[in-house]
Amino acid sequence: MADVTRNTLREFLGDTTLSKALDLFVEDEGVYRAGIRVSNLYLGEENLYYLHSAFPTNSDSVFFGPDTYLYLEFLKAAHPKPRTVVDVCCGAGAGAIHIARQFPNAKVLGLDLNQKALDLAAVNSQHAGVQVEFKQSDLFSESPDDIDLIISNPPYIASAEDVAVYANGGASGLELSLRIVDEGLRKLAAGGLLMIYTGVAISLSGKNPFREYLKDLEVLEYRILHPDMWPEEIGKGTYVDVGRIEVVGVIIRKS
Ligand SMILES: C[S@@+](CC[C@H](N)C(=O)[O-])C[C@H]1O[C@@H](n2cnc3c(N)ncnc32)[C@H](O)[C@@H]1O
Repeated sequence: MADVTRNTLREFLGDTTLSKALDLFVEDEGVYRAGIRVSNLYLGEENLYYLHSAFPTNSDSVFFGPDTYLYLEFLKAAHPKPRTVVDVCCGAGAGAIHIARQFPNAKVLGLDLNQKALDLAAVNSQHAGVQVEFKQSDLFSESPDDIDLIISNPPYIASAEDVAVYANGGASGLELSLRIVDEGLRKLAAGGLLMIYTGVAISLSGKNPFREYLKDLEVLEYRILHPDMWPEEIGKGTYVDVGRIEVVGVIIRKS
C-alpha cells in the first residue's frame, strides 16, 4: 500500500513541482504521517485525482470535500461559452479545473488566500491537463475586470475560534458569500454570470437571509442542492436558533 501511494504521488507531482507542493509528511509527536491526501473525483466521464490536505485538518488546510462534489455538479449548468472565468476561493482548484475542461478556450483564473491551496491547485491542473492560472488574492483584490463568468464555493460556516480559514464564512456564515455577490457583480462584464455555491442558515422560523439579499438582483436560478448540510453544527453557538443549513447553487446575471 505504501508503495502504491508513493508511486501515485510521484506520478502527480513530477520532479519540477515536487519541491513546491511537498508538504507530504508532517511530524506529529515524533510520528510522521502524510500531510496530503489524494481524492478521486468521478463526474460521469472520467476519473480525476486531486491532491488536498490530509486529516486531521488545521487552520491552513486545503479543503476538498463533500461540498466540492456538489459544487462541480452545479457547475455543469454553466453557459454560454465564457471567454474569461474566475474561481474565487478556489482551494485545491476543482472548480477552475472543471470549467477549464468544459470550456477549453476560456482563460481561467483561480484565486485563493491560501498559498498552499494554490500550490496544490497548480499540481492538480497540471495532472488534469488544463491551463489555469492560480494567484493569491483576498477575494477579488487580484482579479481583472469584465469577467464573463465568476464561480465560487466559499466557506460558509459561522466563525468561531475553532473554525479553520477554509470553512470560516464570517459571523453568521454568510458574510463572505454576500461580499462575493456584491464585489463579483462589479467585476463582471455586462451580461456576465456569477455562479455561487453556498450554505445558508435557515432560522427555526424559516427565514432565509440569502434569498432576502438577492431579491433585487437578476437571479436566473436558485437551486437547493442539499436541504440539511453539516447537521452536527445545528443547535449550538451561532446556530442555536437555526433549523438547518441549506446548501444552494445560485446563478445571477449582471444586467
Ligand atoms: C470551502 S473551501 C472551498 C474550496 C474549493 N472552492 C472547493 O470547492 O473545493 C474555501 C476556500 O476559500 C478560501 N478563502 C477563505 N477566505 C478567502 C478570502 N477572503 N479570499 C480568498 N480565498 C479565501 C480558503 O482558503 C479555502 O481554500
